[in-house]
Amino acid sequence: SYPCRQCALVALRDVKVYLKEDGGQIAVFDATNTTRERRDLILGFAKENAFKVFFVESVCDDPEVIAANIMDVKVSSPDYPEQNRERVMEDFLKRIECYKVTYQPLDPDEYDKDMSFIKVINVGCRFLVNRVQDYIQSKIVYYLMNIRVHSHSIYLCRHGESEHNLQGRIGGDSGLSAHGRQFARALRDFIEEQKLPDLKVWTSQLRRTIQTAEELAVPYEQWKILNEIDAGVCEEMTYEMIQDSFPEEFALRDQDKYHYRYPGGESYQDLVQRLEPVIMELERQGNVLVICHQAVMRCLLAYFLDKSAEDLPYLKCPLHEVLKLTPVAYGKTALTIPLILRKNPTPTLHRRNSYTPLSSHDQVKRPRLYSVGSHPGLPLAPSVSTPQFPRAPEGTALRQNQVSVVY
Ligand code: F6P
Repeated sequence: SYPCRQCALVALRDVKVYLKEDGGQIAVFDATNTTRERRDLILGFAKENAFKVFFVESVCDDPEVIAANIMDVKVSSPDYPEQNRERVMEDFLKRIECYKVTYQPLDPDEYDKDMSFIKVINVGCRFLVNRVQDYIQSKIVYYLMNIRVHSHSIYLCRHGESEHNLQGRIGGDSGLSAHGRQFARALRDFIEEQKLPDLKVWTSQLRRTIQTAEELAVPYEQWKILNEIDAGVCEEMTYEMIQDSFPEEFALRDQDKYHYRYPGGESYQDLVQRLEPVIMELERQGNVLVICHQAVMRCLLAYFLDKSAEDLPYLKCPLHEVLKLTPVAYGKTALTIPLILRKNPTPTLHRRNSYTPLSSHDQVKRPRLYSVGSHPGLPLAPSVSTPQFPRAPEGTALRQNQVSVVY
């Protein structure tokens, strides 16, 4: 075990540099800290440096969960380049037997009763939480109690094009344009094609997302916290108007788009905080379609695809595209699906006010005529382009099937 201890010491040295010199606030020391000796080493190190420690122990004794985890995670891990399923299963079960010999679980009643930790039992069926010391530790507990390992898809899109989009105005609460309504119909066809069991549909409380969801003819929920970034004094202005009226603000936003807060409004950083309950709920739910807004979609994407705060405000989230996020081991894959729009011969009625009940009860489904991508649909006529604040290079755009570690 000597080289193994050496590795731990080297990693702990990194932790120290990260927290003391590089401005880090929380370091995750991810290792097999399964012996009291190793955990005592960590506690001693923390004491020396005045760091707080919170242990996370994941205990799993359900053979089905273990087998599924080996198949989902270990087969594709770098430990097993040959990816032979039977051999990986056999080898990993042997590894577990070896761990068992030295494993000393956290003991909440005696040995470890004064330590701060959470035991996650059988991937979240049960939890044991001991001596939470502060806000950060309670947030870690909250997070671990909400995330679930399950196969589901999250579909993200913006509302259909709005009247304000057509005029290049930001914010406001305008309704859909004719193109926007076409998108809503294409979205309805697409969602029906996907045949998603128990799909939940969420919108903001702004008309453009509600009108898009109304077209789907399925129940949906409105979330106020999904509303678009509040541009404060700049609401309903075009970017040119902002540049003319508030040149300094315009320049400031360009300098640091993530932290910049509109006077009387919000920053991307504010938005990330506002969206936390939605993100937690997306972690818990099965299939969900979120019909939202450009800045909101960027924040959700950045969370799931592990994008930096610097890149977040420039992620590409065009109108009339659906992004499908599917979990894979240690992250999510993203698939971009541009919807082909076509004219609908039957006119559709739309709400003109911004209020609808929290959940619609209309469950009528209409037959679909084509599947996305296979229909010779009419391409979307070019719409008035929205002048934007200067953008990051296109390299920050999402690529298809991009895989990224989230946790
Ligand atoms: O232009 C549409 C919109 O959703 C605005 O309401 C919002 O202010 C803007 O996009 C956010 O994008 P950006 O941060 O690039 O200005």
